[in-house]
Amino acid sequence: MPSTPVSFSSKLPRVGTTIFTVMSSLAKEHEALNLSQGFPEFEAPEKLRKLLSKHAKSGYHQYIPMAGLLTLRNHVAASLEKHGTSYDPEEEITITAGATQAIFTAVMALIKDQDEVIVFTPAYDCYTPAIELAGGSPVHVQLKGDNYEVDWDEVRKVVNRKTKMILINSPHNPTGSCLSASDIEELEKIVDGTDIIVLSDEVYEHMVFDREKHHSCASRSVLAQQSLIVGSFGKTYHVTGWKIGYIAGPGAIMAEFRKVHQYNVFCVNGPAQFALASYMESCPEHPQELSAFYQQKRDLFLHELDGSRFSFHPTQGTYFQLLNFSTITDKPDTDVAVAWTKKPGIASIPVSVFYHQPIHNHVLRFCFAKHDETLVKAAQILKTL
Ligand SMILES: Cc1ncc(COP(=O)(O)O)c(C=O)c1O
Repeated sequence: MPSTPVSFSSKLPRVGTTIFTVMSSLAKEHEALNLSQGFPEFEAPEKLRKLLSKHAKSGYHQYIPMAGLLTLRNHVAASLEKHGTSYDPEEEITITAGATQAIFTAVMALIKDQDEVIVFTPAYDCYTPAIELAGGSPVHVQLKGDNYEVDWDEVRKVVNRKTKMILINSPHNPTGSCLSASDIEELEKIVDGTDIIVLSDEVYEHMVFDREKHHSCASRSVLAQQSLIVGSFGKTYHVTGWKIGYIAGPGAIMAEFRKVHQYNVFCVNGPAQFALASYMESCPEHPQELSAFYQQKRDLFLHELDGSRFSFHPTQGTYFQLLNFSTITDKPDTDVAVAWTKKPGIASIPVSVFYHQPIHNHVLRFCFAKHDETLVKAAQILKTL
């Protein structure tokens, strides 16, 4: 088509195609092993696929309730209960089109012009554009040290009367770091007595390693009253393409969320919600098995990397492992990621893209949600560097 005669100014002038799409297409073009984008290489559970097919064949295909299938919301409430907070499935839980829509809608519903939102960098890429589209200002606080920890004193320094939200993510993409019980306590102290809402992206809640546990914002009573917890069935049930997630939080905040949700999507894919609800009913053990499942993959990958020139700290959670390549080359990670995708043929994500300002830290992110053979092969390739 000839170029459009219409002139307009972009609402997101600094945003291009996401790095995940860019690296995945490059990997395809060069037939590289793709450890870049965060999705499982293996199939979703057969039983879950059969349930989807059953509900697609003989199920209900019309709009379902705006807040989501109640049986699915009941399962979410039961799962959150273990953190010590009870959520009313009717009023306090909404099923969304993935965690992405939950985050976007929450920011749109709650952030106005001039409001400040604290975001920790490196940060998952959908946070800042949502804040900017809502007219808010992201205030970036950098995670510190080899384990990418939060410096709460720094957070205290940037909190002011314009601060309306703190956006946290634990387990954390891209670094795999996890907030500890004392981090969550510090966060609670900061927001207690303020009107700050915490938007807590907990999509990797079931992937925490080395016998540690996930510390949710739902685990502290004061914090829970000011938090929205976001989850993703895509991550937990190996169905990232289904794009189904949830958000849970106090009724008054959820009512505000739903005002936007109803005009944003109204409701989410019905047959997939029926399938997930039936699967959660019949396989309640699935989420509890995820940490061991992914820890075996992390350990295999790292064991196979023994003798390589990369340095690393075993990731604490998620299905991402960071590898530092500073002993191999001083080139920028963006160039290195592209070069290594072409030759020797392994795709990763450069971690600098998760920062709001240029950073030269020689770190690449590798997704280990792959077959064991793929991880062994990936390590063999990486050892040639
Ligand atoms: C930290 C984080 N939040 C949210 C999402 C989006 O989840 P969903 O696919 O359910 O929208 C992802 C996906 O990679 C993620 O890594």
